[in-house]
Amino acid sequence: MVKIKVISGSVRPGRFNIQPATWITEIAKRNPDVDVELVDLKELDLPFYNEPKPAMMGDYELDHTKNLAKIMGEADGFIFVTAEYNHSYSPVLANALNYLNAEWNYKPVSFVSYGSQAGGARAVEHLRGIAGELRMFDLREQVLLPNYYFRLDDEGNYQFSEEEEKAADTMLSELTTWAEKLKTARNS
Ligand SMILES: Cc1cc2nc3c(=O)[nH]c(=O)nc-3n(C[C@H](O)[C@H](O)[C@H](O)COP(=O)(O)O)c2cc1C
Repeated sequence: MVKIKVISGSVRPGRFNIQPATWITEIAKRNPDVDVELVDLKELDLPFYNEPKPAMMGDYELDHTKNLAKIMGEADGFIFVTAEYNHSYSPVLANALNYLNAEWNYKPVSFVSYGSQAGGARAVEHLRGIAGELRMFDLREQVLLPNYYFRLDDEGNYQFSEEEEKAADTMLSELTTWAEKLKTARNS
């Protein structure tokens, strides 16, 4: 059993983010070998990074950091769900990443992104750089949702395509495989 945390990277009212975050969580739940949890940064309501000591030291003082460290520390892998902002990633997601260090180390991460034509691809490319610094293993497989606003129904619900379902399955298969392997490596 591996633990995967899906991190929802938008906190604004009316956000689209929660739709793909819920979608990928539900798909991951189909695998009985995966224990998946959706971590909603809106619920955690983290302030801008305000720990007195750098995350690298692992000496967290504030309750919100200790809570975040507990949630992320028990994970074996992550899915970051991000919009694209000015050709880069969600700032609330980057803020959450800055809070911790050891809790991210030597764990795989994949991505679900959305936006206009590029489907959030540029946001993910920037997140891959952060992942490297945090000693995370960023996987090639990802899900992109380009021009998502053209595929909302009258109630504002996104109509996920078969192709996107397939991309999600492939991504989750890779993520689960590497979450298991790296869990073994971390424990040895
Ligand atoms: C300040 C700002 C910059 C944005 N820049 C981009 C961009 O560079 N590329 C893109 O595809 N979408 C861009 N967008 C559109 C967002 O991806 C879109 O609004 C998305 O719905 C935001 O995610 P959310 O609804 O989950 O909060 C931008 C939106 C804002 C507010």
